[in-house]
Amino acid sequence: MGSKMLFDLYVNSSTHDVREHFVRIFPKGQVLTAYDLDIFRQKYHQLYVSETQRDLYLASLSSNTNLTETKKTEVIKESAIKYLSTLFDAKKQFTTELLHDTISGCRESIESMVHVIKGKDISDVQKLIGDLSFHDFYTYDHSINVAMYSMALFQAAKGNASKAEIVTAGLGGLLHDLGKLKISTQIINNPDKLSDKDFLIIKNHPRLGKELFEKNKLAMSGIDLGTIERIIFEHHENFNGTGYPNQLEGENIHLMARVTAIADFFDAITTKRSYHEVLSTEDALAIMANSASKKIDPVLFTMFTTRVKNLVLNGKNHFCVKDDFDPCQPHRVLPVEKIPPSKQEHNLFEKENKFGSVKADGDVAKKKAA
Ligand SMILES: [Fe+2]
Ligand SMILES: [Fe+2]
Repeated sequence: MGSKMLFDLYVNSSTHDVREHFVRIFPKGQVLTAYDLDIFRQKYHQLYVSETQRDLYLASLSSNTNLTETKKTEVIKESAIKYLSTLFDAKKQFTTELLHDTISGCRESIESMVHVIKGKDISDVQKLIGDLSFHDFYTYDHSINVAMYSMALFQAAKGNASKAEIVTAGLGGLLHDLGKLKISTQIINNPDKLSDKDFLIIKNHPRLGKELFEKNKLAMSGIDLGTIERIIFEHHENFNGTGYPNQLEGENIHLMARVTAIADFFDAITTKRSYHEVLSTEDALAIMANSASKKIDPVLFTMFTTRVKNLVLNGKNHFCVKDDFDPCQPHRVLPVEKIPPSKQEHNLFEKENKFGSVKADGDVAKKKAA
């Protein structure tokens, strides 16, 4: 028993570190048995697939029962990072072709990710993210995590979301910080408090991203480029109209940009980085609850919390972040502040008294669009 291979397998037969020589050891179309695989494992350190068959390889992951979810996600993530790192490579000139290749490559990764995310709660996605290895460049890991949370939240918010819509949410998450490639890495990777001048430069990234995307996008069948462009442009708008660049308010901000903003915020304060300590899920959600209706969409946020399992509230519900907290930026210390007693109001959690009081599969998208 075995499975018919959808792609060729190669090994690197070169003994030189710098020169690679790939030899095909198993052809596409033949049945690979468990015995063959065992032999390969013993004989070769690493197996390879060709660039041109990467999509076939990624597509085969979802049906592969030998791999754990974490391993599958790791492979998908590595593939997305390869494209993102080429895009963010300061030595490479940004061209229409480069953007097109990145979107096509990332699309393959995101489409495979849809299978992994399907039916998963936010807590499942969070566990998966925690098990993945992370890289040194904040923007890559952050973008991939935001993509995963955005897909999970969007599928929860819109019960009948199509695969194409979930892929759009994922691609929007991956590319939301596109504009940062026009900003020096010293500023975007600076975990310390930014000077006013640097903060103004950073605040320009949604506009820079939109301009790059608008000028260089090429129509691609099945991809909603208009929505991705709005995610790039609107992910720092605040629900109460205090965000940037256009101070859009409420439902004038695209639904998927509001989804991305929640994913962005949650990842920034809960994912372990080399910089700051992270908050527990409970503390993070209590702090986010104080930003509901201000920084983030309260209905979507409730939807998000109903997808977190076994939540026990014991958190910092009298702590908050300012509306201008930037989740896209690394922080050495999270700028969490105590709310003075005179200003303390009951936050969304206390008002509701419990999570799960909102029917999760209510179609937010429809309700919002009405
Ligand atoms: Fe951003
Ligand atoms: Fe971000």
